[in-house]
Amino acid sequence: MFSLTDVYHFAMRIALALLIAIPLFAQDPPAPGGAPKGGPPKGGARSAPKNLKILKPEEVRPAMGAFRVALGQQCTFCHMEGDFASDENPLKEVARKMILMTRDINSKFPNGGNNVSCYTCHRGAMLPLTAPPAAADAPKPPAD
Ligand code: HEC
Ligand code: HEC
Repeated sequence: MFSLTDVYHFAMRIALALLIAIPLFAQDPPAPGGAPKGGPPKGGARSAPKNLKILKPEEVRPAMGAFRVALGQQCTFCHMEGDFASDENPLKEVARKMILMTRDINSKFPNGGNNVSCYTCHRGAMLPLTAPPAAADAPKPPAD
């Protein structure tokens, strides 16, 4: 596999390419679980990621912001406080499976686009609803 130095240099090349090529897209919303829209990583590669199994280094920042919003949770929902590289929190591995699942779903769309994101299902909630809320369309049975 790649050494850390390789990953770092690769990340820097991507960051440079993005800075030069598509600065206009820097404000685009990220496409969680799918191909990133791009945007230079702010703050440089000060601490290169140490434990990425799916994302590219430049995808981390936009993806994490999107995860937080999509699930309505803080970073520590999936991460150990102070050690983002750690896999000790089991929800981080669940999230990895979700990234792959989301990519898989998107790969099956005829338009090839990133139609589905974490937010599509989660809508700001930890657990997506799989049925309408009971009270939504049916009147409550009388309490007797
Ligand atoms: C829904 C779960 C989830 C949330 C919420 C989340 N992350 Fe992550 N984070 C992950 C996963 C999964 C990875 C590993 C991705 C991979 O393996 O490619 C990761 C990786 C990272 C990494 C790279 C660590 C390394 O050295 O490998 C950083 C940094 C990070 N997250 C920061 C954040 C920050 C900051 C927030 C809050 C804004 C956040 N994360 C919120 C799931 C989450
Ligand atoms: C197709 C719908 C769908 C998409 C897209 C989706 N999820 Fe989920 N996710 C679910 C459902 C349903 C559950 C609850 C079932 C479970 O816990 O396995 C869940 C559960 C989770 C959990 C566990 C929550 C808990 O408290 O146990 C995490 C973490 C998570 N999703 C992260 C993500 C992330 C990150 C993405 C985007 C990369 C994502 N999900 C995309 C449907 C989805």
